Amino acid sequence: MAKLLVLLLCSCALSLGVFIFSSIEAVLLKASRQHNSRYHHALTRNQNTGGTTPTPIGTKHVGDWPAAIVKAKAVVASMSVKDKVALATGVGREKGPCVGNTPAVPSIDYPGLCLQDSPTGVRLADFVSVFPAGINIAATFNRTMMRARGLAMGAEFKGKGVNVALGPDINIVRSPRAGRNWETFGADPYLTGEASFETVKGLQANGLQACVKHYINNEQETNRTSSSSNVDDRTTHEIYLHPFFKAIQAGVVSFMCSYNQVNGTYACENEHVLNDLLKTELGFQGYVMTDWWARLDEFGTLAVNKGLDMVMPGEVSRGGKSSYFGTALVNAVKTGQVPTSRLDDMATRILAAYYVQGQDSGDYPSVNFDSWNSSRGKHMDVQGDHKKLIRSMGAASTVLLKNDGSQLPLGNSVRSIAVVGSDAGPNPEGPNSCLGRRCNVGILALGWGSGTADFTYLIDPLSAITAKANSINATVFSSLSDADLIAAKNASSGKDVAFVFITADSGEASEGHILVEGNLGDRNDLNAWHGGNELVKAVAGENKNTVVIIHAVGAINMELWIDHPNVTAVVHAGLQGQEAGNSLVDILWGDVNPSGRLPYTIAKSPSDYSADISSGYNVDYTEGLYIDYRWFDQNNITPRFEFGYGLSYTSFSYSALAIVYLRGGLGDKSQGPIGLERSLSSWLHNDWITVTFELTNTGLVDGTEIPQLYIAPSPSSNSPPKQLRNFDSVFLRKGESTLVKMCLSRYSFAVWNSVEQRWGVPRGKYGIWVGASSRDRRLYEEIHVRGF
Ligand code: NOJ
Repeated sequence: MAKLLVLLLCSCALSLGVFIFSSIEAVLLKASRQHNSRYHHALTRNQNTGGTTPTPIGTKHVGDWPAAIVKAKAVVASMSVKDKVALATGVGREKGPCVGNTPAVPSIDYPGLCLQDSPTGVRLADFVSVFPAGINIAATFNRTMMRARGLAMGAEFKGKGVNVALGPDINIVRSPRAGRNWETFGADPYLTGEASFETVKGLQANGLQACVKHYINNEQETNRTSSSSNVDDRTTHEIYLHPFFKAIQAGVVSFMCSYNQVNGTYACENEHVLNDLLKTELGFQGYVMTDWWARLDEFGTLAVNKGLDMVMPGEVSRGGKSSYFGTALVNAVKTGQVPTSRLDDMATRILAAYYVQGQDSGDYPSVNFDSWNSSRGKHMDVQGDHKKLIRSMGAASTVLLKNDGSQLPLGNSVRSIAVVGSDAGPNPEGPNSCLGRRCNVGILALGWGSGTADFTYLIDPLSAITAKANSINATVFSSLSDADLIAAKNASSGKDVAFVFITADSGEASEGHILVEGNLGDRNDLNAWHGGNELVKAVAGENKNTVVIIHAVGAINMELWIDHPNVTAVVHAGLQGQEAGNSLVDILWGDVNPSGRLPYTIAKSPSDYSADISSGYNVDYTEGLYIDYRWFDQNNITPRFEFGYGLSYTSFSYSALAIVYLRGGLGDKSQGPIGLERSLSSWLHNDWITVTFELTNTGLVDGTEIPQLYIAPSPSSNSPPKQLRNFDSVFLRKGESTLVKMCLSRYSFAVWNSVEQRWGVPRGKYGIWVGASSRDRRLYEEIHVRGF
């Protein structure tokens, strides 16, 4: 038995997913295994010590923080007040090559920092890759790919000499219209947490600093710099804080606080959010920077006492006086308004992050591009062979929503192909012609705003489909106008298959500067743009094999055509990045069997969703824990396509569910009763239960299944009907079976007790719910937990 337990315990640290780039995977799996044991060790060493103000340091660590902190403290002890302040103060917009820059401090041989967007690639630089958006990588439900994306992106940032990558964006998809949803990892905190963990691990693996953003509750663009997100403590912990916690577990070194207020106080000067939650409860040892020009008190110095460490981009002035750190902070320290110990803490955090990532080692590249004047750059090509990875990630993140009569994959016998819609073609002015992608012309492969990067190239669907068609002697008939329905019908009529492309775009509001086709960041509605519904109906009226392809930032309303009998297939491609056309062709012709799953719910009616954009000052999170599928489940609302949904060209069967308690589980009283635990308790996070089941590919082709484990809580939890607590990505050849193992910890079952400020596992009966989506249950068993 002991042997069995050890075996199960070890296996919990492993991802069993198999993917085509197997050598990368082997390396990554090893890294992941090493990480897990190190993390558990770190948690064991770092039992919570409670909170103090101002910000504590040196009490809890992840990775090599202790050594970095010791080194940083020694250096800080030798520094002048002015130099310490310099570490924390940006030089001002466009006064350095990056979107954020801190000055060199010669006295300590410190070159200053280059801080650069974005979560999809190195922004404002040439010869870089544009990766699939965050929302797409989430749709892979594949930790290995998430890690690989972070690694590849991290290599590109480092190659350009960036010190700090401003990403990932780990806010939650709360309202489907929210403008930056596409930068995030979706509507579920567990999925977002896993993506957050893997992305940070990948980005930071070779010395880059990652910066998770926007901390916290920046879940809409409307009034983002003035509104107050009002969220209760339990919801904060169980939904919105969790992904940030996972980033800390991954060793993230920096945070970006958000523009908005949280419960009436601006996030960047919110003591509860910064000092209490982040630096005390979650033991974060790195530094917190503002979002760009985020509103602070007059000089930003009060914010320092609340836990802010760095101001970006740095040159704000008020009433003719220089403000936001710099001289103002020097004076505030001199007059005792800000204690020296707090300034030392800020400087220590910033330097420790630099040291822990080894950026002082002497071989970290210096900045070789210029965001504002490309002629000043060295035009280093940092793309490596990332295009292969990007193509496979683009395909693995594509969600097949409908496939009547196995319309897809297309065989090589197809002779005539219609391609309709502007999204199928290129932007005639070039993929970068709209600054910050502030237009929706041609293939949509990114949203707009600071979450973008410049395309070195962009493969549009028409080119990729034409190349495929040429190789199988098929002819392509295209109509790239969205408005010309006659041309669309003519192109589609009598063809073996008709692809109709539709889109919906969104992005960053930038305080009203950016308006795209009347949309100010958040989408005005959930309809396809450019009359997409009419275009689909026109094509479907002509062609009985109509395949709808959606390039969109998130959910769109498809009720006007989804049940049309001629719409035989629907492919949600999301935002696939630079290889969009190739990734799509891989799916359409079955070179890659689709395995993408929706990282959010698609409703039948806009009013079915759990939350919408608030137009006023107060953004009240009244739905609490019941966001996305939790809301639909609780209120018995049938969605059009549920969270976790996606079709495959093969089929899978699930059987033989088995649940094994590890040490400290039911029947093992030696571990003591289940009590209330603080967030950093190792006991809370250690593997507790192993769930195994048999998965078989019962279809005719090889494919990847995404088994999902949800926990249906005990009624005493007062929790949503079920919540995702594990998943995997498992490749199986046709006819092949495998044993899938998933681990759960007490944290998987825990609820946040706001009165005690601890996690607890309520006593009662819990359902272990294994399925192919959040509504496709395949296996179920109940367990009884002693609880408190
Ligand atoms: C504002 C955005 O909210 C943030 O995500 C970005 O990193 C900064 N601007 C810098 O461009």
